[in-house]
Amino acid sequence: MTTARTDQMTLVAFLQASNVSVYSGSWRYPSAATDYLDVRYYQRIAQVLEDGLFDLLFFDDRLAMPSIYGGSPDEAVRYGARPIKLDLSTVLGAVAAVTEHIGLGATYSTTYYPPFHVARTFATLDHLSGGRAAWNIVTSVNDAEAQNFGLDRHIDHDKRYDRAEEFVEVVSKLWDSWEEGAIVGDRDSGVFADPDLVHEIDHRGEYFTVRGPLTVPRTPQGRPVIIQAGQSGRGQQFAARWADLIFTSDPSLQLSQEHYQRQKELVTEARRDAQSVRVLPMVYTIAGETETIAREKEAVFLDELVHPMASLTLLSEVTNHDFAGHSLDDEVTDELIDSISGIRGLVQGIRRHVGDGKLTLRTLANHRATLLQGPRFVGTGAQIAEQMREWFASRACDGFVIAATHFPGAFEDFVRLVVPELRALGLVRTEYPGTTLRENLSLDRPENQFAAERRSIDS
Ligand SMILES: Cc1cc2nc3c(=O)[nH]c(=O)nc-3n(C[C@H](O)[C@H](O)[C@H](O)COP(=O)(O)O)c2cc1C
Repeated sequence: MTTARTDQMTLVAFLQASNVSVYSGSWRYPSAATDYLDVRYYQRIAQVLEDGLFDLLFFDDRLAMPSIYGGSPDEAVRYGARPIKLDLSTVLGAVAAVTEHIGLGATYSTTYYPPFHVARTFATLDHLSGGRAAWNIVTSVNDAEAQNFGLDRHIDHDKRYDRAEEFVEVVSKLWDSWEEGAIVGDRDSGVFADPDLVHEIDHRGEYFTVRGPLTVPRTPQGRPVIIQAGQSGRGQQFAARWADLIFTSDPSLQLSQEHYQRQKELVTEARRDAQSVRVLPMVYTIAGETETIAREKEAVFLDELVHPMASLTLLSEVTNHDFAGHSLDDEVTDELIDSISGIRGLVQGIRRHVGDGKLTLRTLANHRATLLQGPRFVGTGAQIAEQMREWFASRACDGFVIAATHFPGAFEDFVRLVVPELRALGLVRTEYPGTTLRENLSLDRPENQFAAERRSIDS
């Protein structure tokens, strides 16, 4: 078993397949690029991140426009509250073509996609990128997504996770359905592959019936890297069982430390090596040549560019709750929080962060100027690097998911101003050590379950 590197941070970039980042209003920033429907936009961003030796870039996803607020997508469309999301496999294919080392992650839902499709998509990406694919497993969040896939309502939270458990079992079996060395390619005898090493999986479960085998052979990583970001108790358990990288989002250092410790305990309880599983909080960074420049940028975003309607629209989206019937000065009561069926933990986190004071919808919406909660590190490269060092050293994380204010400028600033400072502190790498994403993350190559079964029968 390999031992995970613990003296250096894992760096992940949080991307959206559009020009709106997790900051609503980000598309309005003067230097935000406008060519987001052109493949070169994504390729340019990826190359910046690879220059900064990021481990991974990953795209979030949602399978519907925000249309919970007021029961319509109008406000999302009007204010650019993330109404556009391009298909991720196409985007990542184009990014793979112009990069060599950086990991390529995409979000795919276990609630609305079939497992065969997901297994095939990521196996293909793993081959075409030379072993750099990563899958962010999500169970999806709201009714608008359900309504694009033939359902009226989003499936219940715990049932979504039951389904996700079986989904990932099926996907893993499909990835293993081709054993190592199955392809013979013997032109003389005419034997292409060894059928003894290619398996029908014959899965018949509560949610899925899948025969297999996959139509894509064993991939360079064996199985793509798994990402998960469940924040509820059930979500954390699910992540502990399956994920190589666990994304978190907590507004303060202390909450992050508690989360980190709990999540690592759960990984150990799941009989996995807690060291090799990385817990990575998302943070928003705004870097400037001086602190004043960074603070000015922050003020432009928060005070000038974020429209309260865009924030409320996004808040409705992630909580699956229509806030249109409320005024901005309404209090966010415990009753209201209990009625939220989407990402309830987000509102609970902000409630804890605000403390005993009255929490109004306006305050909540201001916090939601950024789509997910998480700390904001603002300042010079050295100041941001120091904050990151503090979190890393005090066991709040194994690295970070860096969220951008705007594309590609925020990542250009990060790579130009923060990465050299992190390097000077010895906290990030100076070259990619391996070829595949698993190698770069020092993760074990998973054993093929069919090969393991055969070996145990033979012995
Ligand atoms: C960094 C980060 C990225 C996320 N990306 C997505 C995403 O792309 N799509 C999605 O539906 N949910 C996304 N989520 C939400 C989680 O998958 C999860 O639903 C949420 O954290 C609530 O946890 P729970 O489902 O255990 O209640 C993300 C969460 C975090 C912290």
